[in-house]
Amino acid sequence: MLVTKKQDDCLCCDAVILPFAGSTALSVELPKNLAEAVKAAVDQEKFSGECGSLYTMNLLGENGILSLVLIGLGDENASNREAYLAFCKALKYCKDQHCGKTVVYLDNAAARLENNPALVAKLCECPWLVSYDFTAYKSNPAAPAMEQVEFVTQLPDFQAQLDEAAVVAQCTLHSRDLVNHPSRFMTPAQLGVEAQKLAQEYGLDCKVFDKPQIEALGMDTFLAVGRGAVDEPRLVVLRYMGASADQETIGLVGKGIMFDSGGYSLKSKMATMHDDMGGAAAVIGAITALARRKVPVNVVAVVAACKNMISGDAYVPGDILRSMSGKTIEMLNADAEGRLTLADAITYAIREEKVDRVIDIATLTGAAKGAVGGRTAPILSNDDAFCGVMEQASKVSCEKVWRLNADKELRPVLNSAVADIKNSSPGNNYGGGTIVAGLFIQEFVEGKPWIHVDMAPVNWLGEDSSYCCKGATGYGVSLLYQTVKLLAK
Ligand code: BES
Ligand code: MN
Ligand code: ZN
Repeated sequence: MLVTKKQDDCLCCDAVILPFAGSTALSVELPKNLAEAVKAAVDQEKFSGECGSLYTMNLLGENGILSLVLIGLGDENASNREAYLAFCKALKYCKDQHCGKTVVYLDNAAARLENNPALVAKLCECPWLVSYDFTAYKSNPAAPAMEQVEFVTQLPDFQAQLDEAAVVAQCTLHSRDLVNHPSRFMTPAQLGVEAQKLAQEYGLDCKVFDKPQIEALGMDTFLAVGRGAVDEPRLVVLRYMGASADQETIGLVGKGIMFDSGGYSLKSKMATMHDDMGGAAAVIGAITALARRKVPVNVVAVVAACKNMISGDAYVPGDILRSMSGKTIEMLNADAEGRLTLADAITYAIREEKVDRVIDIATLTGAAKGAVGGRTAPILSNDDAFCGVMEQASKVSCEKVWRLNADKELRPVLNSAVADIKNSSPGNNYGGGTIVAGLFIQEFVEGKPWIHVDMAPVNWLGEDSSYCCKGATGYGVSLLYQTVKLLAK
C-alpha cells in the first residue's frame, strides 16, 4: 500500500474521493467535469452531505472510467469515530470496485479537519486498514484491489501526521496477522519468534522464556493453564526504554491464549478460538509502534503465551494453584483461563520488570459483549486519572471503550473455602461476569495504577466491515499507542 501527499496535478487514477464536512458545499478546485457532476448530484438531491452518506458516480477520466465518490464526514457534532467509519466506507467502495489508485481531495472537509489533527491522522490510517486482506494461506491470492492513495491537501503538518499514521496502521495490520494465523502455526514458540523478529528490526529488547525458565520464575498458575498442550508455553517480554531511567515504566500485559478450547470446561464452539491472543497482538503492536516512533517513554510488554487444551495432564476443575504472587487459587472453571495467565504475567511485570503502572488487555469474557455491545471494549480501573487518559486516547484512536464499575460488592463471589481466591464462581447469581473477571485481576496489581481492557467484543469480526475484513481487527494497537503517548507528555 502506497499512501502519499499528492505532489502533481494529474488525475490519472481510478477513483476520486471527495469528503464533505457536514454540508454539500464544494470548497476545492476540481476539473470541470468533476465539479459539474458534483453540482448535479447535489442539485438533484442524490447526496445529502450527512455523516456517513455516500454517493458514487462513474465519469470519464484520464485513465478511462473514473469513480467519483462523495462521502459525508459530518460536522463537529459527529464524533471522530463516525467520520473515520464514513471515510472507510468510501475507501471500501473503491476497494470493491478494484480501484488501484485513488485520489482524495481532503481539503474539501477542511472545516472539519483544520482544528482536528487527531482526525486527520486517523483518516491517514484508513487506506491501510481498509486495503488489508489475510491471504497467507491462499494458493492463488487475488492481487491487492487497492494499491495507492494520494491525498490532495494543504493542511499544516500533514506529512508528519501521515508518517505517524503509517506506523500505527502498519503495526495494526501486523497485529491482525498475528491473530489471523491459526494456532497450529502461531504457537507460543512462534509468537516468541515473531517478537524477536520485531525486536531485531526496530531495536527493542526481547526475552523469550521457555518452560524450564517459566518454572524457575514460579509461574505455577500460568503453567497450569498451558499444561494440557503439546506446544509448550513461552513468556514473551519486549522492552522499549525511550525515556531516562528515572522516568516511570509502563507495563502492557496482553492475554496470549494461542487457542482456547476451554480445557476440561470444554467449549462447544471454538472454531475461532485461535483469536484468544488479541491482547498479546495488541501490546506487541503498540510497543513496536512506540519504538518505531521513538516516543519518549519507558514501556515493557509482557505476554504469557500458551494453549488451553485437554490431555491426560491438563489442569482440572477443583485444582488449587499457587500463583507467582504467592496467592493460592481454587480453579473451578478451566475456561476462565485468561485471568490465570494474566495474574502471573502482571506479577512478573511488577516484581521482575518493576513497572509503575499496568494496562492489561484481554479477550476475557463473553459477558463483555452482552454488557456493552460488539463495538466497544469495557474497561475497569482503580485510578480515575489514568483511566481518563485512556478515555481521551480512545477519542483519538477511534476505538471505543466504556468504563464499568469495579464494584467491590461483587468481590465476595470469588471467595474460596479452600484457597485465597477462586477463578470463577459457578452458580454466581450476581451476574457481572466482566466485572468479576476484572476484580480477579485487580487482586494481582499490588495497588499500582491499573486499567483492564476486555477486548472480547471487538477483537474479531464475523463478517467484512468497512474498516476491516472478516477476522482479526487489530483493536488496541492504536488505543495503547495513544494512551502511552499521552502519558509521555
Ligand atoms: N476467551 C474466552 C472469552 C471469549 C469468549 C472471547 C468468546 C471471545 C469470544 C475466555 O477465556 C472465556 O472462556 N471466558 C469465560 C469465562 C467464564 C468461564 C467465567 C466466558 O466468558 O464464558
Ligand atoms: Mn476460556
Ligand atoms: Zn480465553
